[in-house]
Amino acid sequence: MANVAVIGAQWGDEGKGKVVDWLASRADIVVRFQGGHNAGHTLVVGNQTYKLSLLPSGLVRGKLGIIGNGVVVDPEALLAEIARVRTQGLSVTPETLRLADNATLILPLHSAIDRARETARGDRKIGTTGRGIGPAYEDKVGRRAIRVCDLAEPETLSEKLDELLLHHNTLLAGLGAETFEKQALLDDLLRLAPQILPYAEPVWERLDEARRAGRRILFEGAQAVMLDNDHGTYPFVTSSNTVAATAASGSGIGPSAIGFVLGIAKAYTTRVGSGPFPTELHDATGQLLGERGREFGTVTGRKRRCGWFDACMVRQAVKTGGIHGLVLTKLDVLDGLPELNICVGYQVGGETLRHLPAGQRAQAAATPIYETMQGWSGTSGGARSWAELPAQAIKYVRRIEELVEAPITVVSTGPERDDTIMVRDPFED
Ligand code: GDP
Ligand code: IMO
Ligand code: MG
Repeated sequence: MANVAVIGAQWGDEGKGKVVDWLASRADIVVRFQGGHNAGHTLVVGNQTYKLSLLPSGLVRGKLGIIGNGVVVDPEALLAEIARVRTQGLSVTPETLRLADNATLILPLHSAIDRARETARGDRKIGTTGRGIGPAYEDKVGRRAIRVCDLAEPETLSEKLDELLLHHNTLLAGLGAETFEKQALLDDLLRLAPQILPYAEPVWERLDEARRAGRRILFEGAQAVMLDNDHGTYPFVTSSNTVAATAASGSGIGPSAIGFVLGIAKAYTTRVGSGPFPTELHDATGQLLGERGREFGTVTGRKRRCGWFDACMVRQAVKTGGIHGLVLTKLDVLDGLPELNICVGYQVGGETLRHLPAGQRAQAAATPIYETMQGWSGTSGGARSWAELPAQAIKYVRRIEELVEAPITVVSTGPERDDTIMVRDPFED
């Protein structure tokens, strides 16, 4: 298969950035197709660490990066990120980065609404990144959104701002938050236009040409299946579809072009923000995983919640996400633990289930049924072949493979690009 899509199989931060960077050496183009600067993808290359939010991770390998129409783009954040990575020596120019002209823009009022709503929700808050992602997608579906192409049409901008402000200022006033002035927003957009427009084009056309020329396209997902707006732990989810199917609609290419779908899962589980997490650990082991795995959010710096590997959840993500093969990351973090638990089912109100139920209360009530495995005393950290892995670590990987009903095609044993064991090349599948 020529193309590969990388998607998260848990609640995000599985190591998608590392995997995309590693695979990008064999790709020609890397495309982001959903989410926005709520994503935080960390790439460790020698002594440099790159933290990317909106920019496709393939830029670090000098590959063409495309931001698809399914992404919500904060123009200020995009320009700030471009400036930041340039100081690290990366070249980001209209030759190396293309932006869909029909992508939706995030404006300052979106993050204001995001934050005001979270405050109003009190202890039922979702724990969003506060970056305006949800409100921007709402505007897109509500047919009010300002899009990249509108930056070239001052009159369209002016008309759309009238409609947007009618909607949002009413809401902001109702939430007791500060309202926005049209002229200041318009001036900002007109100031940003000449900086953003050189990157803009109908990217679907470039992707079509690339496809016909046999170029390899790598689709880089953000967030993860359990944060998917339909298939995740709703309402504690993000506002886009994160499943592999979105790679097609979010970049303007047909579904048959997606190719091999690679799901990324940590060898344990983490989550940032609120919402159900059946295998969460509130004890010393949870703390140990957090410390060893350096589990702090890339975007917000929040501590990630940690727990055991949930095979039911990942199995569900495999099915709904369309995952053909899995990368199991951060196996090294489990080194030295005497015993490991894997969730193989849930107890929900006297019933035993093999999947996470859809209801909010049912999800909160799901208690895990564990299978216990012996840990390993050797180290898997930095292993680059099966032969270097402790026998018990291989058993753990094999058991997970059985339970989630998908082959494990790659194992990651450290943050560095080459701390990776390839079982099967996803580009060759
Ligand atoms: P993403 O959002 O899915 O791209 O993941 P993040 O970059 O937010 O979080 C994953 C973190 O784990 C990053 O700091 C990576 O450098 C790190 N990482 C990725 N793979 C491994 C691994 O196999 N072992 C260890 N120890 N760290 C890893
Ligand atoms: P990457 O791509 C982990 C979570 C937020 C919150 C929920 C909704 O790095 O894996 P939003 O701001 O999207 O409206 O927040 O989704 N969230 C993430 N958690 N990794 C991410 O991205 C996330 N992007 C959003 O914490 O619970
Ligand atoms: Mg992340």
